Amino acid sequence: MINRVISYLKDELSDVEKVLNENLHSTIKIIPELSSYILEAGGKRFRPILTLLSSRICGGKNADRAKIAAAVVEYIHTATLLHDDVVDESDTRRGRKAANRIWGNQAAILVGDFLFARSFFMMTENLPPSALNIMSDACVNLAEGEIYQLIKSYDIDTTEEDYYKIIFGKTAALIKAACEVGAVIEDNGELRGALRTYGEEIGYAFQISDDILDITGDPKNTGKPVGNDFREGKVTLPLIFALQKASREEKKKVRELLLKEDFEDKDFQTVKEIIYKYRGIEAAKQRVKEHGERAVSAIKTAPESREKEFLIEIANFLAEREY
Ligand code: IPE
Ligand code: IPE
Ligand code: MG
Ligand code: MG
Ligand code: MG
Repeated sequence: MINRVISYLKDELSDVEKVLNENLHSTIKIIPELSSYILEAGGKRFRPILTLLSSRICGGKNADRAKIAAAVVEYIHTATLLHDDVVDESDTRRGRKAANRIWGNQAAILVGDFLFARSFFMMTENLPPSALNIMSDACVNLAEGEIYQLIKSYDIDTTEEDYYKIIFGKTAALIKAACEVGAVIEDNGELRGALRTYGEEIGYAFQISDDILDITGDPKNTGKPVGNDFREGKVTLPLIFALQKASREEKKKVRELLLKEDFEDKDFQTVKEIIYKYRGIEAAKQRVKEHGERAVSAIKTAPESREKEFLIEIANFLAEREY
């Protein structure tokens, strides 16, 4: 799926890559060096693809602005990844050693800050104030989501509601913004709300599927290790669903492992068995499917087009994604 949309948007995406490279300049060498290390490692470019499709479905008359907005969204995403790997103490990102493991936590955090700052500079230079408003709101939500997740970590009683609050902030808000900003650039008031809802719904689907992949994924496909969430004390949806059905002893066991200091691979296997026993993965996949369906229904009034077909395909693809 992603391959087809990538080839459809080939020229625009290659211009987005140019914008991404051109704006890393600085006399402080470590900035372009560290940034291009993570940017060149690839990544799906999921959010820029959404911005480009959204702007095209809204008329596509401002292609140059859309490319800048797409690059800004990817910069903000990349900044959050640099910060995320420090917070999550991750070793691997996009199939490479995480930047914090090469340059250290301090440099990774500060270069992340640079990317945020450059994003805002690019917006003030090139985009309408409404785009800035959308993106800054997304950044507020991102910080809130990450902070709330931190507060809720190692909490076995994390509820579905807590979980949704976290994933709205840390993931859905930026994906929502990536879509909405496409409409705003085209000054399309009619589709703005539809794309915003579409983005939010696929945002939930995206993070739930990421959390599933943290349990079931193949690092060769995802470019990151499995089991990191539980190891870092995060109680995600598949586990929340399983715990709703688990026995008191099983819940006690999970709590014990969650708080265990020297967590081992076999402990992750134990938690995984409990998740599987109560079909936590299936239940979470069902949620991904439902959010995908809501996303599709949000854009039903959008004009029939290749762009719409791709947006629908993306929404349907998330339940089955393996990378
Ligand atoms: C990872 O995002 C962080 C989440 C919000 C789950 P992606 O899965 O889009 O990461 P890349 O950009 O493809 O590496
Ligand atoms: C992603 O959450 C959220 C942000 C990057 C803000 P994760 O911590 O699950 O992301 P991965 O799995 O490390 O990519
Ligand atoms: Mg994280
Ligand atoms: Mg992480
Ligand atoms: Mg994850």
